[in-house]
Amino acid sequence: MTDHHQTNIMTLTRYVLEEQRQHPDATGDLTVAMNSVQLGCKFVESCVRKARLVNLVGLAGNTNVQGEDQKKLDVLSNEMFVNALKASGKFSFMVSEEVDDIIFVPESLRGKYCITFDPLDGSSNIDAGVNVGTIFGIWRLPSGPRATIDEILVPGSEIIAGGYCMYGSSCNLVLTFGNGTVEGFTLDPAIGEFILTHPDIRIPPKGKIYSVNEGNSMYWDDATRSYFDSVKYPSPESGLKPYSARYIGSMVADVHRTLLYGGVFAYPADRKSRSGKLRILYESFPMAFIIEQAGGRAITGTQRVLDLVPTHIHDRCPVFLGGTEEIAQVEAAFASHA
Ligand code: AHG
Ligand code: MN
Ligand code: MN
Ligand code: MN
Repeated sequence: MTDHHQTNIMTLTRYVLEEQRQHPDATGDLTVAMNSVQLGCKFVESCVRKARLVNLVGLAGNTNVQGEDQKKLDVLSNEMFVNALKASGKFSFMVSEEVDDIIFVPESLRGKYCITFDPLDGSSNIDAGVNVGTIFGIWRLPSGPRATIDEILVPGSEIIAGGYCMYGSSCNLVLTFGNGTVEGFTLDPAIGEFILTHPDIRIPPKGKIYSVNEGNSMYWDDATRSYFDSVKYPSPESGLKPYSARYIGSMVADVHRTLLYGGVFAYPADRKSRSGKLRILYESFPMAFIIEQAGGRAITGTQRVLDLVPTHIHDRCPVFLGGTEEIAQVEAAFASHA
């Protein structure tokens, strides 16, 4: 009886396979590569769920290259991803938030892609059981296994796949291959598969929510301040209502909500953090790619995020992302305070 059971399910693996078949020269490499990403996400999901029970909360005792205290789960998630991705044989280089230098894959396991990832995003929230996530970007290396590291420091627009997995009330993986669609999958824990539940996500051109760490507002520049003032205090003549504030402090969760409900998410530059906080290769680029592919925009204030070219693997940039109407207003605020 199939009344209550969908038996023709679009799993993430099937979706990636079907995507690859659209390309005449497809080799199946991306499907294998994505399977290793999926495995990493399922492992982290399972660790996050039981963290409190198996003493996986708290600090690992080391700091990473950004000077952040690593959590046990930062370290474990990173190790899981590094091992799974290496074993796929599809990557030559990897860049992780938790590893100071580029990770070079042993020659026998090298492939045509590079992957950049934030194994556990929002990890400062983990001990309180708040949503965390993983962010990743995949890049084609023009010279494949013989690539040199300068092939990593390229404009964001060269990214070929971007995605994130959110470990929240459900486990959601959102993905784009840059063909103008963004797809959302939900993990069915019973069968261990990501199932397509949010086909073709489009971000509303205008929303009602702003999301930024307002505790930094005393350090903001005039453009940033005037933009956020404009959403909180609309002029009486405009007849507009003020936006609602939502800030989780986990980029994955804040971006996921922005993608689904619309509005604006920002981590601006300020007097304390001259380039903001978010790291270009494994936070800003994949998220900017997803938002653009869903019909939104991502800028630093004055330029498109995906036009940036990082000079170091852990470089940061300011980010404002959201619906087209919000980002046009951000742009206008920066233009008038130039
Ligand atoms: P991570 O946990 O991977 O280091 O990233 C934390 C980031 C991001 O998730 C979030 O948007 C931002 O830090 C929050 O920073 P503040 O606490 O400064 O608002
Ligand atoms: Mn961190
Ligand atoms: Mn992060
Ligand atoms: Mn992280």
